[in-house]
Order: sequence, then C-alpha cells, then structure tokens
Amino acid sequence: MPPPPAPAEIETRLHAILTEHAGLEGPVLPILHAVQAEWGHVPQETLPLIAEALNISRAELHGVVSFYHDFRDAPAGRHMLKICRAEACQARGGKRIEDAARAKLGVDWHGTTADGGVTLEPVYCLGLCATGPAAMLDGRVVARLDETRLEALLSEAGA
Ligand code: FES
Repeated sequence: MPPPPAPAEIETRLHAILTEHAGLEGPVLPILHAVQAEWGHVPQETLPLIAEALNISRAELHGVVSFYHDFRDAPAGRHMLKICRAEACQARGGKRIEDAARAKLGVDWHGTTADGGVTLEPVYCLGLCATGPAAMLDGRVVARLDETRLEALLSEAGA
C-alpha cells in the first residue's frame, strides 16, 4: 500500500530542502541530514518525494535510510543516552553497563522507551578511553560508569 501523501507543510518545507540541494553531487545523504535536522527524524511520507526528485527508486532510498543508523524513522526521545561500545570501554566492563541499560530501559540499540523519554544509542569512543566505561547523556559525557552511576544517570533522564 503506498504511503499517504505528505501533509502540505511537510511538502512545502521539503521542496525548499530539495531546491537547496539541487545540483549537488551525491545529494542523498545531505538531503536526508537536512530532513532529519528539520523534523528530528526522516518522516516516511518524505521518502517518495525525495526518491522522485533524485530519480531513484523508493527501495534504493529506503536502503540508504536503513543502512545509516544516524537516520531515524521516528522522533528520538526527550533524552538521548549514548553508551560507548568501543574496545577500551568494553575492556573496562562496558558490556555489563550496556546490558544493564538495555534491560532497565527495555529497549535495544536505537530504541526509544515507550513513554518517549529516552533513546539509547551506541557510540564508538567518546575520548574517555582511560576512564571508561563512558557514556553521554544529552551531550554531557560521563566516565567511570558502574551500575550505580548508570542508575543515577537513568533516573536523571526520568527512566
Ligand atoms: S573506547 Fe570508550 S571512550 Fe574511548
């Protein structure tokens, strides 16, 4: 079943974004980034219009959107918790923290809690390798995470 047509305001703004990127070489990613910056995610209803403007198939475009985890198909939660999954943090017990966070939030990577409160994302190094496991809550980095500090971080995020 084809997606419903884009509401007029989305269509208007999207046309402006497409015009701004017209003539760009390799415009798919810049356009998707601009769309996500505009709406906080890539609304499904924008995809047919973007595909048409770029003269590519919807399947191709969908492939790009789903390949890059940076692109969200739904708005992120009110808080963004990123946990470092890179090697140094893993060696310092990061896996335990990851598992605890996923269990406590009840979501997997890239997921958002049912109340829309917290989105959980992986990140690969926050520059705190010597003091890991590390995480970032709404842009603020936190080092030396253990279960207690994670609990405090999650309750700060309202989880
Ligand atoms: S590996 Fe986690 S902060 Fe560098």
